[in-house]
Amino acid sequence: MLKLKEVQEKYCVAEKEVQYLLFDPDAQFKNTSVLNVGKTYYYTKDNFVPGFFQIQNRRYLGNKYKLTAFISDILSEKCGSFQSLCDIFAGTGIIGNHFNKRNVRIISNDFLYSNYVALRTFMGITNINLNKLKEKITLLNLLKPVKDNYFSLNFGNTYFTLENARKIGAIREKIEELSVNEDEKLILITSLIYAVDKVANTVGHYDAFRKKLDTINPLILFLPNIRPENNYNNEIYCEDANRLMKRITCDVLYIDPPYNSRQYCDAYHLLENLARWDKPNVYGVAKKMYRGHLKSDYCLKSATKAFAELIRYAKCKHILVSYNNTGESKDSRSNARIKDSEIVNILKIKGEVQIFERNYKAFTTGKSVVDGHAERIFYCKVS
Ligand SMILES: C[S@@+](CC[C@H](N)C(=O)[O-])C[C@H]1O[C@@H](n2cnc3c(N)ncnc32)[C@H](O)[C@@H]1O
Repeated sequence: MLKLKEVQEKYCVAEKEVQYLLFDPDAQFKNTSVLNVGKTYYYTKDNFVPGFFQIQNRRYLGNKYKLTAFISDILSEKCGSFQSLCDIFAGTGIIGNHFNKRNVRIISNDFLYSNYVALRTFMGITNINLNKLKEKITLLNLLKPVKDNYFSLNFGNTYFTLENARKIGAIREKIEELSVNEDEKLILITSLIYAVDKVANTVGHYDAFRKKLDTINPLILFLPNIRPENNYNNEIYCEDANRLMKRITCDVLYIDPPYNSRQYCDAYHLLENLARWDKPNVYGVAKKMYRGHLKSDYCLKSATKAFAELIRYAKCKHILVSYNNTGESKDSRSNARIKDSEIVNILKIKGEVQIFERNYKAFTTGKSVVDGHAERIFYCKVS
């Protein structure tokens, strides 16, 4: 059992708040109800709108597109109507965007710039001239570079066909020249990020490329499907979640951090490189740039401490936490960094905790099987 001082050092919380940790953490967890939601939730695969990129039309590890209806049900049961929601580890922004309406303030944050660009595009833009943008997208689509550039020299013939890689580099360069303001630039880069995903010779991230280069479709940019009328109250940040948490207040706080040691900057270095366009040196087979400043505490042993600090500073009425329960895997990099009991105990500092669980069905050759894998939401009503 941990001594109070050790607990304080480990979790970095005030004395009166950590008393409970002196008891067996799992015993506390047992007192928390786990509600298994038997309902089946359906989602529309990708949900394409012809001629546009929708926010969910991209592959992203851990994205919660399939969970929107489940989260929505918990929110209506537990929170009723709310005026503001903060998606502090927003990734693609799918969850914030799902609740983005005229009268709801969405705060969206991710510390990767490539995600921030898309979050600003879909949830931050309040005024756009669609016709002008369409013309620019057409112009970018018509580029036919024959010479190599930074992008093709580093990523051609591996992650992309040489032709696509040359085009991606040339388009990114042209965006700098074409954009008349920051909003335009963000929209065009977002369009490029989404188009790149469609032609990448990968399984959905850039830790590696597939050996056989058979993703040969041409690169095509579309306009992101923006609803500016919903975005007036929104706030978009590109910050460390723990730093931002000290400055914001909201009704609903949705927390979806990375849950294992796989760093998102390792998986999405290429998009980050493309979005920032500083043209750094890249190295190794996977051609990654230096990423020391982009590493997340939530992928390290310090994850529990970071989570405890995040919750300590949360100023909100409701907290929802998504955290995966893939259990112990042979590959230790896939194991969850924070234990369920730790999540519950840390949330209990703020109020009553419930766990909503939904069985996840894996679909194989037409049959659906429940494979013991569950999606959970830890819900805390802040008192
Ligand atoms: C599980 S993903 C979120 C997925 C998201 N809910 C979605 O539906 O797309 C976690 C995200 O947290 C971001 N992240 C990791 N550590 C962070 C930190 N300390 N501050 C802010 N964002 C962070 C990663 O870049 C990643 O996009």
